[in-house]
Amino acid sequence: MRAIDHNTITDATIDQMATTPNPRLKQIMESLVKHLHNWGREIDITPEEWLEGIKFLTAVGHKSDQYRQEFILLSDTLGFSSLVNTLYDRRANEKGTQTSLLGPFYRQDSPKMELGASIVTKPSKGMEVVIYGRVLDAAGKGIPNASVEIWQPDETGNYDLQLHDPSEMDLRGHFHCNAEGKYWMRTVAPLGYMIPMDGPVGDMIRAQKRHGFRPAHIHFLIGAPGYRELATALYLSGDEHIDSDTVFGSAGSLVVDVNHKDPNSPIPNLPAIHFDFQIVKAAAAESGRVGADPSQIVKAGA
Ligand code: BEZ
Ligand code: FE
Repeated sequence: MRAIDHNTITDATIDQMATTPNPRLKQIMESLVKHLHNWGREIDITPEEWLEGIKFLTAVGHKSDQYRQEFILLSDTLGFSSLVNTLYDRRANEKGTQTSLLGPFYRQDSPKMELGASIVTKPSKGMEVVIYGRVLDAAGKGIPNASVEIWQPDETGNYDLQLHDPSEMDLRGHFHCNAEGKYWMRTVAPLGYMIPMDGPVGDMIRAQKRHGFRPAHIHFLIGAPGYRELATALYLSGDEHIDSDTVFGSAGSLVVDVNHKDPNSPIPNLPAIHFDFQIVKAAAAESGRVGADPSQIVKAGA
């Protein structure tokens, strides 16, 4: 019988999992065990510390339901969601707009809207802006009828889900580009906000003395048949947290200005945000969403 010590335990575990028929699952689990064991050895983890870790993960599970996904928040705040996004972008055959976090406030079935419509449905004191641009392929050609979903927080930094009954949607819309791949819609400039801090991930952020803020941003999900879906966001320049996003979503290529005099704007009397999205051909059926409408992960009543 083999001796189990703090080193041989790793090979013993991997040997026992060698029967895994799915090669990708086998690779993922072997590597996970190696890195997890190395981490435990490196920090010389104690039983009390590991029990704290298990309590923390249990609390993360208990905090998750069909409206809240604390595990995704954990992945976001550990930089892992951004890592998965950058690896996804790196695997593409063509270069397109950078992926950014889907976040926990995405909802399927946002209202279908005509180009130029406002996604603001509640009284708002925010600065009205127009967002416009094109959805292009990698060669710079407009993609007719491309789908553009948009969602964002309001001028106080709150999403509809944080203010109203979940059945009421505000500051969300689903548009389709015109024949030249152009899109334009009206909204209000959002404010940055703190990630949900009332759960175990918030406790972790406080223990690390991090500020917990995201810079002001507007989310987009862009798609067209035959193209990779793009989950991304635009970040407003000048936000004090633009370089220290708690979830590592803001990136230089996604930072936009609000232009108060834009002669090319389709609604020239409004401040304008201009951005052209580029989406790339789909290599295989792959999703670029690190996240989901939380109700798709935990079904109601489950
Ligand atoms: C958001 O953009 O809405 C978000 C993303 C990750 C964590 C928390 C919020
Ligand atoms: Fe967000």
